[in-house]
Amino acid sequence: MKKIHVDASCPYDVLLENGILADAGTHIAPFCKNDYAAIITDDTVNALYSTVLEASLLKEGIRTVKFVFPHGEQSKSAETYIEILEFLAENHLTRSDLIIALGGGVVGDMAGFAAATYLRGISFVQIPTTLLAMVDSSVGGKTAIDLRAGKNLAGAFYQPKMVLCDPAVLNTLPQDIFRDGSAEVIKYGVLGSRDLFMHLKEKGENFDRTWVIAKCIEMKSEIVRADEFESGQRMLLNFGHTFGHAVEKMSNFSLSHGRAVSIGMMLMAKSALAASLCEEEVPDEIEAVLKAFSLPLETDYSAKDLYGIMLSDKKRSGDSLTVVIPSEIGKCTLLKKSTDSLLSFLESAVI
Ligand SMILES: NC(=O)c1ccc[n+]([C@@H]2O[C@H](COP(=O)([O-])OP(=O)(O)OC[C@H]3O[C@@H](n4cnc5c(N)ncnc54)[C@H](O)[C@@H]3O)[C@@H](O)[C@H]2O)c1
Ligand SMILES: [Zn+2]
Repeated sequence: MKKIHVDASCPYDVLLENGILADAGTHIAPFCKNDYAAIITDDTVNALYSTVLEASLLKEGIRTVKFVFPHGEQSKSAETYIEILEFLAENHLTRSDLIIALGGGVVGDMAGFAAATYLRGISFVQIPTTLLAMVDSSVGGKTAIDLRAGKNLAGAFYQPKMVLCDPAVLNTLPQDIFRDGSAEVIKYGVLGSRDLFMHLKEKGENFDRTWVIAKCIEMKSEIVRADEFESGQRMLLNFGHTFGHAVEKMSNFSLSHGRAVSIGMMLMAKSALAASLCEEEVPDEIEAVLKAFSLPLETDYSAKDLYGIMLSDKKRSGDSLTVVIPSEIGKCTLLKKSTDSLLSFLESAVI
């Protein structure tokens, strides 16, 4: 079993092992003093993995109640969030009890926000079941729900007590969702590890899951340790996301997040090269790895349209925007750009 320590304001461990779900009870018991927990999950994951989890908790004498909601981003709403809080109250969860989030990023974000706010905060454990949730959303303590006005607009920084990662559950993940998560994994390679990048380029979707997931979690946990509340270095994790978000929004979210980030990384690499801000090999290398995962490389949207969308981005501060430049494979740098200069920067990548 691999143990990765996340040194956040409330430190915790990520335990990573094939098959660890069946032993979840043993690992969770120390955090469940009253032997009572609420599992929060979606209908798809519930059908696949709840029975194993519940059996392992029962073996440790932990009683459970379970809240199941329909899968998908549309459930990450204020309505479901309030339903969860009401469910916790009806079932008399106290501050000595525990919430267990079993699922992808939607479950983790919503269960985490419920945990952060129910009784002003009760303990929670994350059991991520998508690649994205394992390498990204379950580590770092960001929790949120969507509002009608936009995604992730209400939330809290709230760390779990522990994260249990079982790569074996990825065997049931549909290929397009696995690919989406892979875009984030590739992002980690570009921003901080040439070894990881080269492994992904060589192996494509047959990468070594345990090694790669561990590497990504280690990188994210190091970035979170240095900048838990996103005032500086944590912005590096946005590589590919400035342009990516714009493409995602332009498509009215018909293009998935991972695919949009893939395009965003490619655009950023091309713009960086045109502005002599990266080594010459960077765009070709990124293109090669994205192709190995059958991820998209370009968009039909015009630079002007994407620029318009970016101006309304919440990460913009005043008249400037911080972009993440892939200076070389394995190293990104933050660059503050005036919004005026962003259009021509982007135009160099979008025909
Ligand atoms: N908190 C953060 O730091 C952070 C970071 C990135 C993304 N996010 C959020 O994460 C969410 C996206 O997460 P996601 O991509 O995991 O989506 P998701 O949770 O909707 O999961 C995708 C689909 O896969 C299904 N699924 C999950 N695990 C499965 C398994 N093992 N086998 C078969 N099917 C399975 C789910 O039921 C769902 O239909 C977004 O809401 C995004 O805002 C949060
Ligand atoms: Zn992302």
